[in-house]
Formats: sequence, C-alpha cells, structure tokens
Amino acid sequence: MRARKKKHGSERLSVLSALLCRNPEEIRKNPSAPFETSLPLRLEIGCGKGDFITALSARDTEYNYYAMELVDDVLVAAVEKYASSRGLGKLGTHGGWEAPDGTLYRETWEIPLADRGNVRFLNGDAKTLSDFFPDGTFDTIYANFSDPWPKKGYEDRRLTAPAFLDLYARLLKDGGTFCFKTDNVGLFEYSLETVRASKFELTFESWDLHASERAATNIMTEYERNFSSQGMKIHCLEAVIRK
Ligand SMILES: C[S@@+](CC[C@H](N)C(=O)[O-])C[C@H]1O[C@@H](n2cnc3c(N)ncnc32)[C@H](O)[C@@H]1O
Repeated sequence: MRARKKKHGSERLSVLSALLCRNPEEIRKNPSAPFETSLPLRLEIGCGKGDFITALSARDTEYNYYAMELVDDVLVAAVEKYASSRGLGKLGTHGGWEAPDGTLYRETWEIPLADRGNVRFLNGDAKTLSDFFPDGTFDTIYANFSDPWPKKGYEDRRLTAPAFLDLYARLLKDGGTFCFKTDNVGLFEYSLETVRASKFELTFESWDLHASERAATNIMTEYERNFSSQGMKIHCLEAVIRK
C-alpha cells in the first residue's frame, strides 16, 4: 500500500503512544503485560487502517489483540480509528488529540490503563515478530490482503512464504489457527501450496468467502470492502498447527 504522507503523522502517533508497544524486550517477557486483564492473544499482521482489528476486537472481547503495521503513516489511521471507536476522543480541529473531557493533547496522553481496551499496536515488519513474542503466544494469527509480490525473486516477502509460515507455527499455541484472506488468485494459489507443504493442516478453503457459510461471521477489511464492491471474489484459507 502506498501511504499518502499524513499531516503530522509521527506527532499524531506519539499522542496516542499509550496504545503502541515499542519495546520488544518488555513484551517478550510477558506479552499480556500491556493489558489490564490477561486473556488469550490474537495477532493481525499488516493491519492497514484498522477496520478489521477495530471490529474484531469489539466483537470478540474474550481476547486481547496485537495489530502490526509496517508503515507508520498507515498505522496512525488504525490507532486513531480504534481510539475513537472506544470513546477515547477524536482528532483536534487544529491538530492534537481531543480527549472525551475536552482536554487537547499535543504531546503524549497517558491514557488510563482501564480505558486502553484490548488492542495494542506495533509499528514494524512481520519478520521481526519473534523479537517481540515468545513461541506459543497466540491463539490466532490473521493476515488480510497482504501484498502479493508477484515478481520472481520477491517470493520471500509474501506473508505466506515458507519462512513466514514457520514463524507463525512457532508463535502460535498448539491448536492455534492462521487465517488468510486475499483477492489475488496467484497469491492464493501460492499460499495454498505453501500451507499444504508446511507443518499446518489446511482446515478451511474458499475461493468465494462471501458466498460461503463463513459470510455471516466474516469481518471485512478496508481492502476487502473495496475489492468486493468491484465484484471481485474474496479467497480465504485457515490452517491449524498441531505441535
Ligand atoms: C494491501 S494492505 C491491506 C491492509 C488491510 N489488511 C486490509 O485488508 O485492508 C497490506 C498492509 O500490510 C502492510 N505490510 C506489508 N508487509 C508487511 C510486513 N512485512 N509487516 C507488517 N506489515 C506489512 C502494508 O504496509 C499494508 O498496510
């Protein structure tokens, strides 16, 4: 995704830095430490502007969530979307962040832990995930509409390349699930192949998710809404790791 430069992107992120985790060593010691309550954990990789993580975390409240995004100017949109959806205020008309009590924060707002909710955001590359999390951390890992990297020589960057699947297999608990959605036929075919050749067991496959039995419980991402409104089919796979 090419991100348009956000006005004051880094200042905007730092105001809401209470919702970000920047120190891998701290999380690695205890991935539940940033949350008020210790709950099973889920991870979304490449969360984009945050539609999926915001809706999923509001629906499935029996989990805590991490959402990772490579590009800070995209992440800022996800963090702000999540914060306003949780009643934590809104962007100030002339900059800064306006808390619900009307206070305008231009630097870090130390949001009380009880108000931070069940999502924390990471600004980084999926290949660094094991710096943040010990093996067996997650119940579920989601990757939605990740970049297809279609050219030869770039296969290793696909989020379903064998090395990434090995990483997810380690980060998931025994019985944990990897969930993947894409509109891209080539990437989906590639992902079915790499999953079948991996330690995962393929447990669900659909070439037309919105016409499948999962449609009713599916949560759409911003890319998914856009592609499906153009009549494109959404492909989905789920795979379980048994250790
Ligand atoms: C095509 S967008 C999809 C965004 C969102 N998941 C959706 O479905 O609407 C892919 C996102 O993944 C992020 N991304 C790509 N490679 C990544 C990586 N290695 N680690 C973390 N995020 C990554 C990109 O910056 C981009 O925001």
